[in-house]
Amino acid sequence: MAQRKATSLQTPLLVCNWKMNPQSLREARALASKIIRAARYAPPASVLLAPPFPYVAPLHALLKGQRAVALAAQNSTAHEQRALTGEVSYGMLADMGVSRVIVGHSERRYIIGETDKTINEKVALIHAHGMTPLLCVGETKKTTPAKALAFIEQQLVRDVAGFDKRAHFSIAYEPVWAIGGSKEVDPSYAAHVIEGIHVFCAHHFSSVPRVLYGGSVHCKNIDDFLYYRDTINGFLIGSASLRAQDMTIIIKKIYGKR
Ligand code: PGA
Repeated sequence: MAQRKATSLQTPLLVCNWKMNPQSLREARALASKIIRAARYAPPASVLLAPPFPYVAPLHALLKGQRAVALAAQNSTAHEQRALTGEVSYGMLADMGVSRVIVGHSERRYIIGETDKTINEKVALIHAHGMTPLLCVGETKKTTPAKALAFIEQQLVRDVAGFDKRAHFSIAYEPVWAIGGSKEVDPSYAAHVIEGIHVFCAHHFSSVPRVLYGGSVHCKNIDDFLYYRDTINGFLIGSASLRAQDMTIIIKKIYGKR
């Protein structure tokens, strides 16, 4: 498999997608504190916490005085600021130090029913407000890398339509069938698809997006994925990001101890 030096030089990103967890602010603070401690040798803003909205402000306060861990949002609105019950404006997210926003996660695509049109609108708004979209893509059923890639290319075309070719964004490749721990992907399969995404992006965009892998990554299989660290530019982690011990091991393996 061809190695891509340009991307391998980028610092890997580690994004903790907490989804609807933990159930109390006390637990959220305790978990975040342990991750901050584990990440103290990691490069600036390389570890991202994506907590549920109610914990964003308290964690923003907790993150002060350190640089390794930053905040991401799990979701964002498809609307500019206006009278709109239940939405959170981009200004509020920016004021709370949110630098990246997850968009197009499969749970929002297939459980909430978010369309590529909505995702495309969100990608544009995230960017317009000075944040970096972390666009999630991935095939729904286990297939071949070539078929997965064809599916993902369609998603990318629709989700970033009209987006400035030079604009900064990142991608998380998450095979939907491998999310949540029931089935694990072969890391060579993931690397193969990600290599294809890199090639596609090199043709369509002038900026080189980082491409992360997500789907059942934990402390026991992280080494297998890190074997492909020249291709896989980081990880989007769900369940294991709620376990401080797993995260401590994963952070050490990715960033080492300097
Ligand atoms: P998982 O979730 O690590 O629990 O598979 C990943 C995700 O949904 O982003």
